Amino acid sequence: MTYKVKDIKLAPQGKRAIEWVERHMPVLAAVRKEFARTEPFKGLTVGAALHVEAKTAALARTLTASGAEVAITSCNPLSTKDDVAAALAKDGINVYAWRGETTREYYSNLNRVLDHKPDILIDDGADLIFLTHTKRTELLKSIRGASEETTTGVNRLRRMASEGALKFPVIAVNDSPAKRLFDNRFGTAESTLQAIMGITNTLVAGKDVVVVGYGFVGRGIASRVRGLGAIVTVVETDPIKALEAVMDGFRVARMNDAARVGDIFITATGNINAIRGEHIRRMKDGAILCNAGHFNVEIDIEGLARLATKRREVLEDVEEFQLRDGRRIHLLAEGRLVNLAGRRSLGHPMEIMDMSFALQALSVEYLARHRGELENWVYDVPPEIDRRVAELKLKSIGVELERPTWEQIRYMKSWRMGT
Ligand SMILES: NC(=O)c1ccc[n+]([C@@H]2O[C@H](COP(=O)([O-])OP(=O)(O)OC[C@H]3O[C@@H](n4cnc5c(N)ncnc54)[C@H](O)[C@@H]3O)[C@@H](O)[C@H]2O)c1
Repeated sequence: MTYKVKDIKLAPQGKRAIEWVERHMPVLAAVRKEFARTEPFKGLTVGAALHVEAKTAALARTLTASGAEVAITSCNPLSTKDDVAAALAKDGINVYAWRGETTREYYSNLNRVLDHKPDILIDDGADLIFLTHTKRTELLKSIRGASEETTTGVNRLRRMASEGALKFPVIAVNDSPAKRLFDNRFGTAESTLQAIMGITNTLVAGKDVVVVGYGFVGRGIASRVRGLGAIVTVVETDPIKALEAVMDGFRVARMNDAARVGDIFITATGNINAIRGEHIRRMKDGAILCNAGHFNVEIDIEGLARLATKRREVLEDVEEFQLRDGRRIHLLAEGRLVNLAGRRSLGHPMEIMDMSFALQALSVEYLARHRGELENWVYDVPPEIDRRVAELKLKSIGVELERPTWEQIRYMKSWRMGT
């Protein structure tokens, strides 16, 4: 076992954080109990690039309890919790991650994971998978498949597959209803708002908040921020999503117009430069900019820097850019996903990651079991896995499903309806 973490002495603190979340992740615990008996990963190595924090540690420990050797690094240079990384190392897991990695260190750590010659990959953003297809192609033959956690990663992989460039099967965990509906929507909303308020101590009620992108993430953020009393404007490029936002009761505007009114801007598009210089020029003094999308490309930080005459860190995770006319624009967590990259950001609530990581564990078990049977393609999570996770979750919170009668089952299967 090898590791590279910031400070191994932080392990006891990380252990407490992991124990706390594990007590609140009953779905993953049920999967772990089953896997401890069946050992689906015996003799296999799982390489992972995920946000190295307490909930992810619960997934890594589930995999090792299921017979796997695990090597893990972070999928973002700022999202590692150093105490959790230390605790994982103490627990015998190969971990290469610390908060504040340089770009070079980030890629070295991805390579360190690949040095373990993984049979299966778990990725978040597809950087690890991409590396196997570009610089570490010697590994392509032995990799049985991978699972991908987020929208940006899945979009990237679908483009690879459609060009015939994907060299092993991938399961799009992100696209399963049990992930998108709960993790992207509710999880990102709560954790993003927690992070913004935790970093800035700002009042949200009565503020003008601009949500850029009204997909699963944006929709969740818009609804929760409205719940806190904000006046919400949505910016969208897709006519259906824009109309959905209108009918959900939001003001919808172009970025140029929204830029003038916003006190807080939150991007969630998965796209590049959704907020750029021409918008920043119109913003109010004191505007706060942050990003909830996967990569730090949604806010044009270079454009912002070009407009500024001065920049300085005014608070932990808050950088102030002073424009020529004296207006100040505040950027949170370097424009990286604010709910994980801030020093005090907690990431998604544990009950949410309970479901997402149960989906991950069951999806990679599916890959292990179906070796050689899948094409080099991006697959949806098998519906029986989705259903199982939802049922386990309902059971864990004591909610019972209505059972259809035989008459109802027959009726729904029949085409001879009516009188
Ligand atoms: N922070 C987190 O913890 C977290 C969690 C889940 C997903 N994500 C990331 O959040 C991003 C969004 O995910 P999603 O599941 O909501 O994706 P999605 O595809 O459902 O939604 C993205 C929306 O943005 C819109 N859009 C694209 N370019 C735009 C632009 N220039 N201006 C305005 N709107 C634009 C699209 O039309 C789409 O409706 C992705 O990068 C994803 O990986 C982050």
